[in-house]
Amino acid sequence: MKVLSVASEAAGLVKTGGLADVAGALPAALAAQGAEMTTFVPGYPAVLAKIGKAKAVHSWDSLLGTKARLLAGKLGGHPLLVLDAPAQFGREGGPYADAAGRDWEDNWHRFAALARAAADIAGGAVKGRAFDLVHAHDWQAGLVPAYLRLAPFKGGRVVPSVITIHNMAFQGYYPAEIFPQLGLPPSAWTVDGVESYGGVGFLKAGMQLADAITTVSPTYAGEIRSVEFGMGLEGLVLARSNRVHGILNGIDTAEWNPEHDPHLAANYSAGKLAARTKNKRAVEQEFGLERDDGPLFVVVSRLTWQKGMDVLTGVLDHLVGIGGRLALLGSGDAEIEQAFLAAAARHPGRIGVKLGYDEGLSHRLQGGGDAILIPSRFEPCGLTQLYGLAYGCIPVVSRTGGLADTVIDANPAALAARVATGIQMNAVNHNALAMAVSRAVALYHSPAEWKRLQTNGMKADFSWGASGAAYAALYRQLLEEQE
Ligand code: ADP
Ligand code: GLC
Repeated sequence: MKVLSVASEAAGLVKTGGLADVAGALPAALAAQGAEMTTFVPGYPAVLAKIGKAKAVHSWDSLLGTKARLLAGKLGGHPLLVLDAPAQFGREGGPYADAAGRDWEDNWHRFAALARAAADIAGGAVKGRAFDLVHAHDWQAGLVPAYLRLAPFKGGRVVPSVITIHNMAFQGYYPAEIFPQLGLPPSAWTVDGVESYGGVGFLKAGMQLADAITTVSPTYAGEIRSVEFGMGLEGLVLARSNRVHGILNGIDTAEWNPEHDPHLAANYSAGKLAARTKNKRAVEQEFGLERDDGPLFVVVSRLTWQKGMDVLTGVLDHLVGIGGRLALLGSGDAEIEQAFLAAAARHPGRIGVKLGYDEGLSHRLQGGGDAILIPSRFEPCGLTQLYGLAYGCIPVVSRTGGLADTVIDANPAALAARVATGIQMNAVNHNALAMAVSRAVALYHSPAEWKRLQTNGMKADFSWGASGAAYAALYRQLLEEQE
């Protein structure tokens, strides 16, 4: 079974969030199931630099009006295809926005070109590279199912497709004026095609036309049936509910394993937790924090409304007041960034803040922090709580999406049954978060209970095994249906 995975980022090449972790880990997860997955990503400068001298295996004189080449390489030993379209992707800045954080105005065109190319490849445009199925991720690959179904590669095969929703909040919604430039037939301009609330909806198109829709946790798969989480697409989720699956993300245990993590000052395992102290001291030093016997909270996050980071800024005085300290790594909304900097200035030695993106530091925080705070308003899956569980950094989370599915709250019943792995709160507001932080501090001062929470999480299996099998089973089902 040969699968083409289409994504706008993949760990090892380019990463802004969890999508990259998942796209980067899926090929190995599927290889274990006997499927060969080829990853297809845009040729941003960082990607071209990483793949070095790569072979061009195809070219387009006009891919939606732009010149492009297809480069072949490897990512973690698995096949990789890169769309080298300099006018679209050869820019400095992020994958979606310029250096100042403004979205590129032609994002619709950039990612329509990626999707058009993916449909051509899947249809057989590149000699010697045939695919049985396409797996599209998020709105950036949302038009792939539309091209496959409504404007397939001439003379090619029509293969089934799966779209995975990693985040319903980003839908790729554009004005109707762009429609004629997408190279789709006029008949695609209906509610059964790419039209969405009078504009073009990239994610909507994918959800409408893919053979299956998946999202990254069972709870989120249920939540997006509601207005609050469906964000305008709940009707479509309901209409296609027999095609919607919730498959939990795993973690890449080669990248995220405290026993072998090269970023840590000290490696450790569930049986050797004492060695963690060295990592905690290193984090304290790196963030200019006082040393004491209280818990060290950490945050590794986009600083946004989704992540509840605005609420956290209002709970910091309480956190410090009850003996906690905080080391935060993140970037995002300017207002939230400023609020964290102000809190650090109010509480020198107790709160340390690093604005920016730093992969190594994200590992060091998981390896040295006592608890990681994740008060998300919604969270399709979330990976930082999984890294926390694997590293003995207790997740303190809201009960939503994948956070609800992966963390077992330390309530009296779970403590008595010795199965708890973290702390959950019911709502995302000042009181609920303050109470969750208080519960964490209290538990931390019961060392035996705390250690059990840590070892429970570290011994749990969050690898890709089960989820890789679930994706493979879904692919097989779609291929059988097609016959
Ligand atoms: P989302 O994709 O919504 O941001 P996830 O929890 O799924 O949330 O994934 C976030 C990923 O990005 C994790 O791998 C996390 O460690 C990483 N990350 C987030 N912020 C930073 C940062 N400032 N520096 C380094 N890594 C970060
Ligand atoms: C999105 C979601 C996050 C999820 C990630 C990978 O960024 O916000 O919850 O873990 O995608 O699926």
